[in-house]
Amino acid sequence: MIIGNWKMNTARADAVALAEAVANIEHQASTRVGICPPALWIDPIAHILEGSSILLGAQDCIGDQFGAQTGCINADMAHDAGCAMAILGHSERRARFGETSASLLPAVAAVLETGMFPVFCVGETQEERESGRALDVVAKQIRPLLTAGLDLGGIVIAYEPVWAIGTGLSATRADIEEMHATVRDVLGRTDALVLYGGSVSPESADEVFSAEGVSGALVGGASLNADKFAAIVAAWERK
Ligand code: PGA
Repeated sequence: MIIGNWKMNTARADAVALAEAVANIEHQASTRVGICPPALWIDPIAHILEGSSILLGAQDCIGDQFGAQTGCINADMAHDAGCAMAILGHSERRARFGETSASLLPAVAAVLETGMFPVFCVGETQEERESGRALDVVAKQIRPLLTAGLDLGGIVIAYEPVWAIGTGLSATRADIEEMHATVRDVLGRTDALVLYGGSVSPESADEVFSAEGVSGALVGGASLNADKFAAIVAAWERK
């Protein structure tokens, strides 16, 4: 699975052009490819992707029912707009808006309830990695999912070391393998899809995908260029 996270990028015309290019990316039926544009562009892009195999996703949503929540989008709205998935708990949202795995549980439940799948993000900071706590920190980010009585069959986890996001840095192959095994262990699901994220590019993709236990990538910066995004899909398929 290769998912593009456009973050807060693209003016409307750029988003349309990028989505049109992504819609033409060829991939094997066994590879799921998706994009998560800014919420305002989900609707126009849903029309562009009609009839294509590219999945559409939201970058966030909340678990509340319809109601008085200024500025928020709920899981039903994302689903209604044509999304197949929602990214939840990205480190940028954890850092900026104080989201925690516990506070995200209603959103995880609501996303699963609609039939979408959550792409639940976890990852340690540089300081946590350097002090030897990375595995522990990520295990703590995963564990709340187990306490909520959720059917986690459809959940996708994205392991994104915070220090690797947007920096050009990448975790070592051994560290990726160790972390992905830990995520599956804590989840108690050997079959869970665990993506890697953090500066995945056409240049780094082969190395990242050679790590055992990697189910694909969550791609930020490189997903803003359709050729680079396609090259990452191709790297996955020749792995
Ligand atoms: P990046 O972002 O590929 O630009 O590092 C990845 C992410 O934050 O999902």
